[in-house]
Amino acid sequence: MIDLQPLARRLAGTPLAAWADTLPTQLDERLTRSHGDLQRWQAALQALPALTAERIELGEQVQLAGACDDATRAALRQALLGLSPWRKGPFDVFGVHVDTEWRSDWKWQRVAPHLDLTGRRILDVGCGNGYYMWRMLGAGADCVVGIDPNWLFFCQFLALRRYLPELPAWHLPLALEDLPEKLEGFDTVFSMGVLYHRRSPIDHLLALKDCLRRGGELLLETLVVEGDASTVLVPEDRYAQMRNVWFLPSVAALELWLRRAGFVEVRCVDVAVTSVEEQRATEWMKFQSLPDFLDPADHGKTVEGLPAPTRATLLARKP
Ligand SMILES: C[S@@+](CC[C@H](N)C(=O)[O-])C[C@H]1O[C@@H](n2cnc3c(N)ncnc32)[C@H](O)[C@@H]1O
Repeated sequence: MIDLQPLARRLAGTPLAAWADTLPTQLDERLTRSHGDLQRWQAALQALPALTAERIELGEQVQLAGACDDATRAALRQALLGLSPWRKGPFDVFGVHVDTEWRSDWKWQRVAPHLDLTGRRILDVGCGNGYYMWRMLGAGADCVVGIDPNWLFFCQFLALRRYLPELPAWHLPLALEDLPEKLEGFDTVFSMGVLYHRRSPIDHLLALKDCLRRGGELLLETLVVEGDASTVLVPEDRYAQMRNVWFLPSVAALELWLRRAGFVEVRCVDVAVTSVEEQRATEWMKFQSLPDFLDPADHGKTVEGLPAPTRATLLARKP
């Protein structure tokens, strides 16, 4: 489904070259165990009309523009809807506004000012459909590799990539655990919205550190609670209706975890409460969303009575 030769060429001569050579075999093997809906999503990808992006905007938003008549735009819209639900975005594709569940552009506004991505080789762990990967290129990255085991998100990325074939962004349908140990080849590693899904959060931090070269930078974004360095919330059951949430530390606890994992220059650059304007159901994601997961009488609490989602962004360096 993807040609990995350009990635191998891009990574030739870097510490990641040997890994890049193993990827075609690994992905072929993953494809043999792929999701039952993959054929349907592949059909949606094949239904995407042939269009040429004449103007590409990735700095302020993700917007592709070029000649596209109304009938073609309608076909494009149908094909993209065939890849629903769309969670991360928004995207503006030849006049089709993909109004995703999340205003991921708002998160990017909180994160991007703290980073200089110029010329960086980046790994985005849990990249979803790759929304931030395009924004990283817009911020001057040299190349971006995203990993996410979710096949639908992989297909959504391919839909955008169809119109941006030359850009140095590659989405691999892999989990962090599928990467070899001690890759040590990325200048910047992102882990956004992943840590609270991990049962062993410090192992996750160590695995992220393994992907960085010496001196490389980690951007970590995750759910937090208020408290001191000894405060960590482990939900008894669900959190905001999610079953797979394990550890919600305070910012101070998270900073401590990062230092224990061997990072230096650990600092929190942003803390933000997630609003019902930032995460909500739309035509492109029709299931329940944040407004349904909060206590209707008190948006400061989840329906389980726990503190409502608050996210922190931290930076740290591998010595
Ligand atoms: C809450 S989403 C966050 C997406 C995006 N990074 C963001 O901040 O909006 C978590 C993502 O992590 C992915 N994920 C879960 N386990 C993972 C793992 N072990 N390795 C890599 N990605 C994983 C999920 O498929 C999902 O797309």
